Order: sequence, then structure tokens, then C-alpha cells
Amino acid sequence: MSSPDQPHIDLLSVANFAGGQPHDQFAWLRANDPVHRHPEPGGPGFWAVTRYEDVRAVGRDPRTFSSSPTIMLHDPEPGGTGSAFGDHVMMLMTDPPVHTRMRRLVSREFTPRAAAALRPRIAELATGIVDEVVERGSCDLVTDLAGEMPSFVIADVLGIPLADGRDLYRHTEALHSSEEVVSAEQRGVAFGEMLAYAQQVYAAKRSAPADDLASMLANGFIDDQPIDEIDFFLWFLLLVDAGGDTTRNLVGGGFHALFQHPDQLAALTAGAGSPSAASAAGAGSLLGPAIEELLRWVSPVIYMRRTATVDTRLGSREIAAGDKVVMYYGSANRDPDCVVEPDRLDLTRSKNPHVAFGGGGPHFCLGAHLARIEIEALLQEMLTRLPGLESDGEAKWMGSNFIFGPTALPIRFRPGPRLG
Ligand code: HEM
Repeated sequence: MSSPDQPHIDLLSVANFAGGQPHDQFAWLRANDPVHRHPEPGGPGFWAVTRYEDVRAVGRDPRTFSSSPTIMLHDPEPGGTGSAFGDHVMMLMTDPPVHTRMRRLVSREFTPRAAAALRPRIAELATGIVDEVVERGSCDLVTDLAGEMPSFVIADVLGIPLADGRDLYRHTEALHSSEEVVSAEQRGVAFGEMLAYAQQVYAAKRSAPADDLASMLANGFIDDQPIDEIDFFLWFLLLVDAGGDTTRNLVGGGFHALFQHPDQLAALTAGAGSPSAASAAGAGSLLGPAIEELLRWVSPVIYMRRTATVDTRLGSREIAAGDKVVMYYGSANRDPDCVVEPDRLDLTRSKNPHVAFGGGGPHFCLGAHLARIEIEALLQEMLTRLPGLESDGEAKWMGSNFIFGPTALPIRFRPGPRLG
């Protein structure tokens, strides 16, 4: 299928996700070939699903569209650094009822109430993070600000030192990068270091349990089976992995978008209120709807893959059992079925049912409430304590067709005093 206005479709090349997601390709696909048969060098090919309703339908139907063997485009290599070891599988790669039992184990730590209880601590972390740069007048927004928050919060939740959270999160970025950018050896090293660290934490939390998530998992059971060292590692990998560069990229990618829309940045700054008021932000503030719009606009998770369990139909396409079906969240979020005028960044949107955290199926982002609180606290602190905040050079982008966002974004601002 081709037409004169058809852009070259290539959703595999990481170059097509540098600087912005390939919205010209997505728009063409949504209009002309919404369930597109995409070639895959060295692999069987996959269906690229780009419409909002189709993405939601696939994500909500785990019987037809399974998360096993993987949610990544490429199948795990035998003996490779995948997310399963023998019978041990990461929650993200399971389907109900196994998934339901696994998720139940941790879900109460991530409810809106549990996340809200962390608000004062997260506001305190935001103050400390901004304190580290506030006197300098310039810094890198991604490394010095956006990246610090999720690595510190997950470290706190797990019960490990904040500095270790920062190291783990560096390994996460290597694991999420494509082979074009980070070699298999480098990824193997990152994986090995995370494994060794998790083994150490497992032993420590079993001999001296504390009131934290790592202790709960290390001493926990699923169906009367104790969580062993390998299960623990897979939980650890998932939690560190899922909440790290996603949250960072939302803040980095969000500010990149705001620098391109200075009127909206000015409105957001004007509405942000007084320093360290993160816990008070909310009612009446533009921050809540702005965060939803930035989630929609940036869509830090580019895709999740499913595998068809039976022959089925999606739109006008016949999908065969075993086919790979890939949901493109960034495309669904720019579909007019998601919001009106989807190509306009509008921080004031009141109705914004985006799918940046997933389409609402069983795997809907476990950390969505926590992520929103982290993002709100950091934005609040940055917008109020870094006056004149502006871009100070070119952004660098992740080399990934899975996770989207900048790895570097130089900024400058008028220096101010530390608060801590
Ligand atoms: C802006 C930040 C974030 C974005 C955009 C994001 C996005 C997503 C998406 C798209 C999924 C898959 C949904 C699906 O398949 O239906 C997911 C799953 C998940 N996320 Fe997040 N996430 C973010 C932050 C976090 C945080 C802070 C955590 C906390 C540790 C977290 C933990 C998880 C976990 C554990 C899963 C797997 C859930 C399951 O398999 O049941 N995420 N996230």
C-alpha cells in the first residue's frame, strides 16, 4: 500500500525517535493503514497498531493479546539477558490469572493513598534536588534535576541508599537503549551489576527486614511459594526499570516541549505559586491538567508489544495466532479520538483520556499515582525557584525505539539561595 503523500514508514530506526516521535508516519498510518504490517529484519515482522481505540482494545484483552513471552519487539534470545529465567517470569510479561496474583502482592504499596502518603517526603526530595543546582544559574535539566527524582523515590520505596538508586538508574538507561547505541556487552555489564546488587539487597533484607518494599518482597510469598533470589531480582529490575527513565523523560521531554511553547511555559510558571508548595498544589492550579497534557504530548513509553494467542481480527486485518501486535501510545495520544485538536499542546485541557500509562488493561502502570506526585513536586519546585528558566543549548535524545525522551537538556536561570 502506498500513496503520493506517504512518508517512509520505519518504526524500528532509533533515529526516527530522536527529537520527537515520528508523528508524520503515525498520522499517515492512522489515516491509511491503522493496523500496519511492519517488516522486521531478521524477524517475522509485526503489526503496528496506531489508532487510539485499537490500542485500548488490544491492551484490555489479555486473553487474545498476551504479554508472554515479552512486551519488547524482539523475542528473548535463548540464554540472553531477557526478563525470564526458566520458570521465573517478570510480572510485566505475565497474563491473568498469574499476573493478578503477582500484582496483588505489591498493589497496596502503589494505591492513590499510599502514593499520597509519600507526598511530603517527595516534596522534601524536590527541594534538595533543586538546592543542588539553584546557586549555579545553569545545569543539565535531565541529569541534574529530572533524573534525580525517580531514582531517589524508588530507592526510598525499596529501602536502599539514594546514591545507589542513582547508579541503578544509569544501568536502566543502558538496558533501554538500542543495540545501535549501547553494545550487547555494555548491556550485559549493566544487567550483571543490577543482578549482583539485587542479590546483596535480597540477603540483607532477609536477615534484617525493615519497613520497606524490598523487605516485603524478599520475605514474601506467592501462592505459598516463597519469593526466591531470582524472583526478587525480577521484581527489583521491574520496579527500578519501569519508574526510572519514564518519569525522567516526561520531565525532560515536557520541558523541551514547553521551551517550544514559551507562552504556555509562562502561564504554567505564573500559576505555580510559592516555593516548596508542592503539597498545596492541586485544586485551582494549572499543574494537574498540565501534567496530563505533557504525559499525552511526550508519551515516554513508545510501545508495548502483545502476542496474539488465537487467530483474530483487528480493524480490517486478519491477525494470526503467534503474531506480534505492537501498541504505539504516542500515536494513539495524537488521534482525534483521544482529544480534540490533538496536535495542539494545550495545558488547560480538562478532558484528557490519554494512554501514556497504558490503555487501561491489567498492566496499567502500577506507578501512575506515584509518577504524578513526583512530577508535580519537581515541576512546582523548578517553576518557582528557577526564575527565567530557559533552554541553553541543543537537547540530546535517547537512542531507543522503546522509551522516548532527551538524555541531555542544558538550561539556564537566575541563581537563587538554597533552602535546605
Ligand atoms: C511518566 C512516568 C511513567 C510512564 C509514562 C509509565 C508508563 C507505563 C506503561 C505504558 C506501562 C504498561 C501499561 C500496559 O501495558 O497497559 C507501565 C507499566 C508499569 N509501570 Fe509505569 N510508567 C511511569 C512511571 C512509573 C513509576 C514511577 C513506577 C513505579 C515504580 C512504574 C511502575 C510500573 C510497573 C511495575 C508496571 C508494570 C505493571 C504490570 O505489569 O501490571 N511506572 N508503565
